[in-house]
Amino acid sequence: MSNPDFVAFLHAYPAYPTTHIIDDLRATEYARLDVGEHIYLDYTGGGLYAETQVRRHHKLLSEHVFGNPHSSNPSSLASTQLLEHAREYVLKFFNANLDEYDVIFTQNASGALKLVGESYPFAKGGHYLLTFDNHNSVNGIREFAHAHGAEVTYIPVALPDMRVDASSLNDYFAYGPKGTHNLFAFPAQSNFSGVQHPLEWVEKAHAAGWDVLLDAAAFAPTNYLDLNKVKPDFVPLSFYKMFGYPTGIGALIARKEALAKLHRPWFAGGTITVVSVQGDKFYMADGHTAFEDGTPDYLNIPAIEIGLKHIESIGYDVIHTRVTCLAGWLLDNLTQMKHSTGVPLIRLYGPTTTEARGGTVTANFYDKDGNAIDHRFIENEANKVNISLRTGCFCNPGAGEVALGLSRVELDVCFNGPGHQERVTLDDFRLCFDGKSTGAVRISVGMVTNFNDVQAFLSFARGLLG
Ligand SMILES: Cc1ncc(COP(=O)(O)O)c(C=O)c1O
Repeated sequence: MSNPDFVAFLHAYPAYPTTHIIDDLRATEYARLDVGEHIYLDYTGGGLYAETQVRRHHKLLSEHVFGNPHSSNPSSLASTQLLEHAREYVLKFFNANLDEYDVIFTQNASGALKLVGESYPFAKGGHYLLTFDNHNSVNGIREFAHAHGAEVTYIPVALPDMRVDASSLNDYFAYGPKGTHNLFAFPAQSNFSGVQHPLEWVEKAHAAGWDVLLDAAAFAPTNYLDLNKVKPDFVPLSFYKMFGYPTGIGALIARKEALAKLHRPWFAGGTITVVSVQGDKFYMADGHTAFEDGTPDYLNIPAIEIGLKHIESIGYDVIHTRVTCLAGWLLDNLTQMKHSTGVPLIRLYGPTTTEARGGTVTANFYDKDGNAIDHRFIENEANKVNISLRTGCFCNPGAGEVALGLSRVELDVCFNGPGHQERVTLDDFRLCFDGKSTGAVRISVGMVTNFNDVQAFLSFARGLLG
């Protein structure tokens, strides 16, 4: 308590002590972090699991016999029961009405997004509208839209905050003529800038005749998404980002009405009621069954309920408060650091305050003469002191292009350069923008980050001052 930095932190963020339950948990459930002297700052990449999550799951597996759920024998029924329980628990966790929403288990958020992309009734006259700061797995849906003749429009985000000009939204929504299928996609939280877009956009878009895909992958780990208050049509997420274990399972939470609009381009084991070889006919099953191809991950899906209960035992209020305090302190300090020449150490891409933003902080670092320091150098230096952070563009090229000032013209020149029509490697891409950064450094705080983690990073950053 006598540490003057900690005193200053508490003065600036007095709510932090209300999150002490996480310090207790960190000492027991996440002791491996401190035992291994890890400074883990890549929570937007992946969350961390509590030891009891793994133990509870292994106990369940070691005490029961689970068989393939596509059957009706006792071991199969035991799996089905757990699967359906987990499905219901996901809906309950997000406060979704069971009559209104359904859950499809997928491999990850990208798997959920592909289901929407390949099945959405894109057609000529229809539209796919999305913000610049989407993850690539949301961007990738545009290829299905293009293939079916629908128009694709991006809504820009602008520096320095990397937010959308909200006054322009109605103009974009006017693109969606009634009578066709129009899909609007945005991240509840950007995995590049940490910006949290207003969830009120969901109802605005609905009122203008759009279906809405709300990417909750980066939002759900530290913010409560209440599907009784906000009612998007499609919500993709990855559970490992929320509670670390298990990897390999995500979900598409979908409004049943919207799900009924989707047409799957194929059928698979488990997705049909009847298929005939000689009759060349198939009949899709109803609801989630039509979207879960083959055998679901029936041994791991029960660990989802364990993970959700773990989050509930801490509470989103506590998690959110924790992350807000620590992100605030990180932002306050990083943005104030200056070289002896007066040149700021970083250029931040995103909001400088904790207002409507999460714990994802992205920036580039500069030397005392104002030259950008390559993000790969920062990563290498951080690796040496056991700090795990992320560098590059984080699968979010639109936000990257805006942040790094890569213009449409420069990109066109690059993509039409010699030999570039067929293939552009990352090295080719870097050469196109010689002299400009083509990536950034992302530091993300999460559920079990503590003050020492943030201080360790700030001390590392200070070491870069000249
Ligand atoms: C906002 C957002 N959407 C989608 C994804 C894709 O998640 P996954 O890689 O688990 O499919 C990510 C992953 O980082 C993300 O941050």
